[in-house]
Amino acid sequence: MAKKLFIETLGCAMNERDSEHMIAELSQKEDYTLTDSVEDADLILINTCSVRERPVHKLFSELGAFNKKKKEGAKIGVCGCTASHLGEEIIKKAPYVSFVLGARNVSKITEVLHKPKAVETDINYDESQFAFNDFRSSPYKAYINISIGCDKQCTFCIVPKTRGEEISIPADLIVAEAQKAAKNGAKEVFLLGQNVNNYGRRFSGEHEKMNFTQLLRRVSAVEGIERIRFTSPHPFHMDDEFLEEFASNPKICKSMHMPLQSGSSKILKEMKRGYTKEWFLNRVEKLRAVCPEVSISTDIIVAFPGESDEDFEETLDVMRQVEFDQIFSFKYSPRPLTEAQNYPNPVDPEVAKERLVRLQALHQEISDRKIQRHKDKVYEVYFEELSHDYYVKGRTNTNVIVKVKGSEELLGTFKNVRITEVARTVMTGEIVEEKAS
Ligand code: 5AD
Ligand code: SF4
Repeated sequence: MAKKLFIETLGCAMNERDSEHMIAELSQKEDYTLTDSVEDADLILINTCSVRERPVHKLFSELGAFNKKKKEGAKIGVCGCTASHLGEEIIKKAPYVSFVLGARNVSKITEVLHKPKAVETDINYDESQFAFNDFRSSPYKAYINISIGCDKQCTFCIVPKTRGEEISIPADLIVAEAQKAAKNGAKEVFLLGQNVNNYGRRFSGEHEKMNFTQLLRRVSAVEGIERIRFTSPHPFHMDDEFLEEFASNPKICKSMHMPLQSGSSKILKEMKRGYTKEWFLNRVEKLRAVCPEVSISTDIIVAFPGESDEDFEETLDVMRQVEFDQIFSFKYSPRPLTEAQNYPNPVDPEVAKERLVRLQALHQEISDRKIQRHKDKVYEVYFEELSHDYYVKGRTNTNVIVKVKGSEELLGTFKNVRITEVARTVMTGEIVEEKAS
């Protein structure tokens, strides 16, 4: 009888893809099928994130709960970024954990399964030749890794220590993945990497010289793929050629993630982000000049050590100038193995809290005003997911989520949709004959 796998995935899209990879390995080589029930599972996996401290604390309480619920003989495995940085400590703290598998080692899942108390956390392990597999949680959109690891040294970020140095995946493998996905019915690909537009900096073997812009052209030549998205790009690597390709290539979706982190050039320097406030604003200006309809999202950290009121005001200033469509904002969280954990002048936690509240309120004000522009507009929507009450959800090219009344037949299709009700997260619309504007 097939064994049952319960898997919980925390964190980013890279982790989601890693989970898909582990599911594929376990189903093909070990005859596992997925279950939603911890109690029924023969194997319980938590694919962890370590970017901020809170999820790490949560991990141990969650492990305790899983251990109580699990059936006799079931195994618990801890995978992902926290597995990479805590390694053996996890088994010391939670001795019922069967194995620990780092973010760079997910392809070894079927190996560690049979090695009691195995700890595989080698950040030099090279998965760039085979980080692929067929399992996809959605048939309509395919996540495809284009690189592993990260070479940047942002002083707040633990990722380079958990995912190791950056290696680009050979372009032919990426194109083959996109072709396979298209053959299986996906019309959208989502290219993934910690720093996608640094693609081509290093391959693990012989490879023709290629940058991200060239890779985008290669992927967009794949027949059947109609939409390309990617995450995360870095503002430092947004050269003109890349922005122009982004704007002019009709298959590339017009939604760009531009992680600002801070609007103060002083803090950006302390973060070792490699750009200034002026560079960031200049890139936004260039992007909007070549692609006026683009939607821009960002990540912002408040209360980085040494952030003064003036520095914070500069972040608000950038927000007012750019008017981001979406933000992901966080209080700075000191992380082990990072340079900034030892920085002086931590910001008072009350001040940090206040800054986050102010920043989020400003964003809400901007966004509530900006989203009104969608009312009555007609967009082409790609439908991906059933929603409750007989609605189907999809996305516009600029990443606006829209639901319309309908059923399965809409999934995997493009339709023109008029926005009838504007909302913060999911807009409502109706399918129309009229062409998208
Ligand atoms: N504290 C707070 N936020 C962080 N991020 C990364 N490291 C930290 C940290 N130590 C945020 C950044 C990054 C996003 C994925 O998580 O904004 O872009
Ligand atoms: Fe972290 Fe910076 Fe790499 Fe992003 S680019 S993963 S923030 S080190």
